[in-house]
Amino acid sequence: MILLLLILFLSSFCLENQCRFQGNPPLVWEKPPQPYNLTNLACFEYYDYFDGHVCCNASQALFFKENFAEAVSFFGSCSACLKNIYFTWCNYACHPNQSDYVNSSNHVNGEPLQNPTFKICRRWAKQVYESCQFVPFVSAMWPTYVAFWLTQAASAIPVPVTLEFPPNDQDDDPNYWCPLDKIRPCQDECDCLVCPSACEGTNDISYIDNDCKVGKLSCFTFYLILGCSFIGFAFLFSIIRRIIFRNKKVGFEKKPILN
Ligand SMILES: *[C@@H]1O[C@H](CO)[C@@H](O)[C@H](O)[C@H]1NC(C)=O
Ligand SMILES: *[C@@H]1O[C@H](CO)[C@@H](O)[C@H](O)[C@H]1NC(C)=O
Ligand SMILES: *[C@@H]1O[C@H](CO)[C@@H](O)[C@H](O)[C@H]1NC(C)=O
Ligand SMILES: *[C@@H]1O[C@H](CO)[C@@H](O)[C@H](O)[C@H]1NC(C)=O
Repeated sequence: MILLLLILFLSSFCLENQCRFQGNPPLVWEKPPQPYNLTNLACFEYYDYFDGHVCCNASQALFFKENFAEAVSFFGSCSACLKNIYFTWCNYACHPNQSDYVNSSNHVNGEPLQNPTFKICRRWAKQVYESCQFVPFVSAMWPTYVAFWLTQAASAIPVPVTLEFPPNDQDDDPNYWCPLDKIRPCQDECDCLVCPSACEGTNDISYIDNDCKVGKLSCFTFYLILGCSFIGFAFLFSIIRRIIFRNKKVGFEKKPILN
């Protein structure tokens, strides 16, 4: 009996902190996470809660670094949005409890990872979407958080994974990845143009000087036109970037950078 309990205890201990995959292209890697060298992992630029052990490795970190540099052209007009997205994909690849949130249809170490799914809670998905919603590229492409997350992986960020949300908004389900305290709200770091909640206070009517003119236009109209042209331009630019980016065929198909 004691032996059984001991085995149960030990096996539950061993099941903790388990990885599902590693590398680029991703291979099944069901092993404990490894200590990381901070210098090599681009994912730790902003965050430090991985307890010193991760499931991703240096070649993945380089892959992320390169692709997130590309993502700046889509989401960079609001750094909170960019960092929230970055954080999500870094957690997918590096989280030490990866096997709690990531599943796949094959489990043989060293084989290519097949049909990976990543379980994330709806509140995280919604709040990240809210931080990105008014970035021109995002508002043009994705009208809802579900659309944003389900197709984002395949388009702007080349991570081939299916996201899985809890059924019926069961956000308290601990089986879904949900670090709400790590959300960066856009009003903390983005300007009013891409984050309406940052505008509060600045759209006070007393800020608009009625005598202020730029040519025949009032300043308010002038700034409005300027703002709209900027959004139009940014959208056009991101579409062009997108076409170029697509043609470059970045993705997990890409050869590992280090090997
Ligand atoms: C990263 O992991 C992959 C898959 O396990 C492996 O093939 C590759 O050699 C690793 N790269 C580094 C730099 O450790
Ligand atoms: C971490 O990586 C950097 C860059 O590759 C290297 O210079 C440094 O010696 C490494 N540190 C440790 C503790 O391995
Ligand atoms: C991983 O899971 C263990 C056990 O459930 C928990 O103590 C630890 O905080 C988790 N790590 C992270 C980074 O969430
Ligand atoms: C993981 O995937 C396998 C095979 O697709 C499936 O049988 C299993 O139920 C899944 N586990 C979880 C926790 O979703």
